[in-house]
Amino acid sequence: MKVLITGALGGIAQGGVIQVLEKNFELKLTDYKEPEKELKHKFIKTDIRDYLEVKKIVKEADAIVHLGAIANPSEDPFLIYSTNVMGTINLLESAWQNNIKRFIYASSIHIYGLPFNPEYLPIDEEHPLNPCTPYALSKFLSEETGRLYTKRYDFTFISLRIGSVFLRKESYNNLKKENIKDRQEVLWNHIHPRDIGQLIKLSLLKDIKGFEAFNAVADDHTFPEISSLELIRRFFPLVKKINNKDNFLIRKEASLISIEKAKRILGYKPNYNFRDYQKWETLI
Ligand SMILES: NC(=O)c1ccc[n+]([C@@H]2O[C@H](COP(=O)([O-])OP(=O)(O)OC[C@H]3O[C@@H](n4cnc5c(N)ncnc54)[C@H](O)[C@@H]3O)[C@@H](O)[C@H]2O)c1
Repeated sequence: MKVLITGALGGIAQGGVIQVLEKNFELKLTDYKEPEKELKHKFIKTDIRDYLEVKKIVKEADAIVHLGAIANPSEDPFLIYSTNVMGTINLLESAWQNNIKRFIYASSIHIYGLPFNPEYLPIDEEHPLNPCTPYALSKFLSEETGRLYTKRYDFTFISLRIGSVFLRKESYNNLKKENIKDRQEVLWNHIHPRDIGQLIKLSLLKDIKGFEAFNAVADDHTFPEISSLELIRRFFPLVKKINNKDNFLIRKEASLISIEKAKRILGYKPNYNFRDYQKWETLI
């Protein structure tokens, strides 16, 4: 299968996704930056805001993995919308014109609202969406546009609602030193780019039709010395419902963002738990 990856020079692509996907797929990479080193795969420079350029690069692809975006929520909103929303529309329209049947999209957990004010925990894909920033809205609009294309033709759009990615061991070391309140708003989640690679690989291969969204985080949280139920009791005392409580009793540090759907439908098995991060050889 020939797979086009946008945002291929970005942190998530370079930090693990390409290494995972190159084992199974023929990759074509694109970004609007110039590569600083020689790449193993074919690379084409493209600005995804330019429809005519995008139309050219999707040719011959069987699937698109769309990671290219303004990933910094504090950036200028006009830049965020023009890149993240129009860029996605350009890719979707080009996919449709070229009869490309599968599109994997890098969405974000920001789509549930930030700071999180959960109606229930753990947050699953059915939880109400509440985009509160231009960045979160750009992810929401992209998901909805993808959904629209699944109604228009025989098309699969899989949205991975990615959590917090840290590319360096130092960042993980810093997490250990943080005040527990600092990352309450993202429910102390994390994910390694290689596990994102695993989710993308499974999304490319599984027999799924139409629109599906999956939370994309690790199996645990970044304060394992405190159980998930205790975190909920202390920091979210007003949450009305805790679903699948047994899971929190069996795995005391289970993530407060549910990955049960990804496990069940995709067969996702996260390989990178916070407790072991010192042993990860892939972090710089
Ligand atoms: N890093 C995280 O914690 C995180 C969390 C949730 C979702 N995501 C999403 O995952 C994806 C990848 O994130 P990342 O951390 O690798 O971000 P990144 O900023 O490192 O990479 C994004 C890439 O997109 C490229 N890009 C930006 N504008 C472009 C344009 N107009 N045309 C073509 N390419 C363009 C950039 O050059 C960059 O290489 C993004 O869609 C981001 O929103 C990231």
